[in-house]
Amino acid sequence: MPKQEVKLHYKNVMADVIGNEHGITPEQLKDLADKTSPLILRLNKERQDGKTPYRDLPYNSQIAQQVKELVKELTGRCENLVLFGIGGSALGNIALQTALNPYMHNLDDTQRSGPRLFVFDNIAPEQLDKLDKTIFNVISKSGWTAETAAQFMIVRQLLLDKLGPGDCKKQIITTTDANQGILRRIANNAGFRSLVIPEGIGGRFSVLSVVGLFSAAMCGIDIDSLLQGARDMDTRVSCEDFYRNPAAINAAINYHFYNRGKKISVMMPYSYHLKDLADWYRQLWAESLGKAEDLAGNEVHIGPTPVKALGTTDQHSQVQLYREGPNDKLFTFLQVRNFDKDIKIGPAPDYAPELGFLAGKDLSKLLNNEKKATEYALLESKRPCLTVLFDRVNAYTVGQFIYLFEVTTSFAGALFNINPYDQPAVELGKEAAFALMGRQGYEELAQEIKPLNAFDEDYLV
Ligand code: PA5
Repeated sequence: MPKQEVKLHYKNVMADVIGNEHGITPEQLKDLADKTSPLILRLNKERQDGKTPYRDLPYNSQIAQQVKELVKELTGRCENLVLFGIGGSALGNIALQTALNPYMHNLDDTQRSGPRLFVFDNIAPEQLDKLDKTIFNVISKSGWTAETAAQFMIVRQLLLDKLGPGDCKKQIITTTDANQGILRRIANNAGFRSLVIPEGIGGRFSVLSVVGLFSAAMCGIDIDSLLQGARDMDTRVSCEDFYRNPAAINAAINYHFYNRGKKISVMMPYSYHLKDLADWYRQLWAESLGKAEDLAGNEVHIGPTPVKALGTTDQHSQVQLYREGPNDKLFTFLQVRNFDKDIKIGPAPDYAPELGFLAGKDLSKLLNNEKKATEYALLESKRPCLTVLFDRVNAYTVGQFIYLFEVTTSFAGALFNINPYDQPAVELGKEAAFALMGRQGYEELAQEIKPLNAFDEDYLV
């Protein structure tokens, strides 16, 4: 079977397709190559120096082995797997599940080779039963996120009340840092089983670590193929030739359009299975690239705004704006060449022969033609469009996609001259939540926040 790949098609951002006013001329592409090529060498060097440990995750066979052993141990005694985590501790897990397991995974026993999966990445009171058949995986890199801590505390009490301390212990698995954070202290004291997030891996770059691999493997996803896909993409995104390096080109094109006033980046998958990868990308892009300061400490307030849209659904809600509103967006479509399952459209009723043009055709053909039609409409309006083309959606290609966009983010960070690996603004929000909830040591911050949060009756209409 030919190798199934993920490729970036960038012809439809070029000036000969959408004109000089909005497209990239060959000279501009050459300038981008000149600017980005040294960054390829720099990123490769930083990686060799251990400065971007997420790059090495696909090669860490110890992690995969540890995950597989735990999965084996739990097989047969876990009907439901519940994840508590947020942001980078949840979005990758959701994306893998939607991409690689059947739509009916949770509802149909015959379509499932592992437990049902529920990812609680928000806080809402939930009803839980069959606790002895439910494993709770509490995921937090910092170990301090209030929402995750609250969920853990609710469930711990529930388990203690229903199962007692001995069995409660068996139902909880923590995923956190090796040494830091309160979740680590809890895991050590309570004796919960624990998966360790390697050092230097931020939440949004952690899906190929224990954070994403455990739930994936539990639910029957082939994590070996996922990691193989990432490794094969690593070869391509390390390539020193700009024109053959999809991450370098992708980042350079995004950077170019940002500087030409197209500050919104829309990712639009034409596959239901890929829809949550766009959510994962949204966090990766926003948290990594939205920064107040550049590496020299200058105030820059930079960062493209990532937007998620789903084809064909959002053709019927967003495309009017995308075509006729401001030309301030770069579009990235996700398209699938071959679908695993297809459905033929039925015949047209005798009294509606006009629908005969659809009859007997594959639904996937309609989906892909809808994508082409939308792209055509956007190109007619001189809107730049990229396509990420999946030969097929499987663990191998999804691994490629994840790695491609992680490294694209590193390149974009280097082009914008900012640090893509921190998230100081998220941290401030977390601290403010601690202060508002009365955590010791945050009293001053609580006072500072108070006037900003009070509802002023004069303004309440
Ligand atoms: O990417 C990030 O670092 C963040 O989005 C975190 O993943 C998110 O805030 C959750 O943090 P933690 O895993 O520390 O609970």
